[in-house]
Amino acid sequence: MNQKKRSIVILAAGKGSRLKSNKAKVLHEICGKPMLYHIIKEAEKISDDVSVVIAHQKEQVRKMIESYFDNINFVEQDADKFPGTGGALKNYAPRYEQVLVLNGDMPLVTAEAMEQFFKMKESDIVMSIFDLDDPSGYGRVVIDENEVCYIVEQKDANKKELAVTTVNAGVYAFKRDILEKFIPLLKNDNAQNEYYLTDIIEMAKNEGLGVRALLVDEEHFKGVNSKKDLAEAEMILCRRIRNKWMQKGITMQLPETIYIESDVVFEGECIIEQGCRITEGARIVNSHIKAHSIVEESEVIDSDVGPLAHLRPKSLLRDTHIGNFVEVKKSTLTGVKAGHLSYIGDAEANEGTNIGAGMITCNYDGINKHKTKIGKNVFIGSDSQLVAPVTIEDNVIIAAGTTVPSGTVETGVLAISRAPLKKVKGFFQKFFTKKEKQ
Ligand code: UD1
Ligand code: MG
Repeated sequence: MNQKKRSIVILAAGKGSRLKSNKAKVLHEICGKPMLYHIIKEAEKISDDVSVVIAHQKEQVRKMIESYFDNINFVEQDADKFPGTGGALKNYAPRYEQVLVLNGDMPLVTAEAMEQFFKMKESDIVMSIFDLDDPSGYGRVVIDENEVCYIVEQKDANKKELAVTTVNAGVYAFKRDILEKFIPLLKNDNAQNEYYLTDIIEMAKNEGLGVRALLVDEEHFKGVNSKKDLAEAEMILCRRIRNKWMQKGITMQLPETIYIESDVVFEGECIIEQGCRITEGARIVNSHIKAHSIVEESEVIDSDVGPLAHLRPKSLLRDTHIGNFVEVKKSTLTGVKAGHLSYIGDAEANEGTNIGAGMITCNYDGINKHKTKIGKNVFIGSDSQLVAPVTIEDNVIIAAGTTVPSGTVETGVLAISRAPLKKVKGFFQKFFTKKEKQ
């Protein structure tokens, strides 16, 4: 049997007003990707009928999804007429008998965590609960004699209900005919005038249907409603990412201080020191990233970087040493040493080349960006500027303090542009004596 023959629907049509942002809630990112991306990626592993309900900023949400996924169904919610999580399902038609409904603001959920709901086949409805010291923001689950009775939203709850610490995690498995039957019957006579999906639980109980509660953990089912929740969810996901890589043999010093985004790749033996930030598209192979360095969408192979270095997107380093306060952007460095205080942008440099402290590639003329090509065994003295477009051929010495204008520096030469040093005898004495008299 095809294990993917079950339907999953993700509710992503809400505004997310508690985030106090112009951006729709589900588009807010954790570890470099929108919250919704993380959920869809996991849902796709276990279902070939994944739908997303959209309304608020629907074009942006649709565009984001289509940029990553090919086979997602879109369901448009008529949010003006039927607001709320129940209203979200009015236009939804699942392909299969078993349907899993997920809120779009729970980015920590995994395929394994979703799978648990499908295992409890004998129930008409499986819902998810967890216990929290601070249940605020969540719907409270009222349980009597081990049976779920109903869910009450915080805004509708009385004092006694507010004190309940068992909350609704926001994932439900329904049989398709139950959704078809109860969604049209939902009412909006509540504090928010919304159609609550959660009301189905009480309605189903009243008709004698079986509701099972699955105890889940916040690590996987945390809902994100505020910026604080967003930061906490990111911490959990980032920890998960770090743990995965440490299990695969990557060394991390003070791992809690290291930020790694979700599709970063490490290979071989790598050491990542404290305070590093490594973002989407980075690939680090047999390399050492020293404290407080940033690696953005770049490849680092058999190299060491930092401390306090910044690799900006589209850089490729091989057998290269990058030291502190060096910024590299869109450059390919092979067998290069750049130990201190440089900007290397839109450049390439090759084996045996040494880039002295303070060298700058002047890549921008105010309108366009230009390339700098540096050959093999080039020795670039400190505080030099290479005005792009410029080519430095192999075996060249650029003297310290030289400004190399656009053009070519031919192989074998010394390039030096240095104003002759003038020594004015006794000037120090004269200068300060004059100042003292004033
Ligand atoms: C919901 C549950 C609450 C539960 C909590 C778990 C309801 C009524 N309440 O509350 O019991 O404890 O999740 O995290 O379901 N959405 C739509 N269309 C809408 C409104 C919302 O698609 O008209 C989507 C949102 O984009 C979001 C999800 O549904 O992804 C949940 O909405 P949200 O407003 O966050 O519900 P909560 O108040 O968190
Ligand atoms: Mg929520």
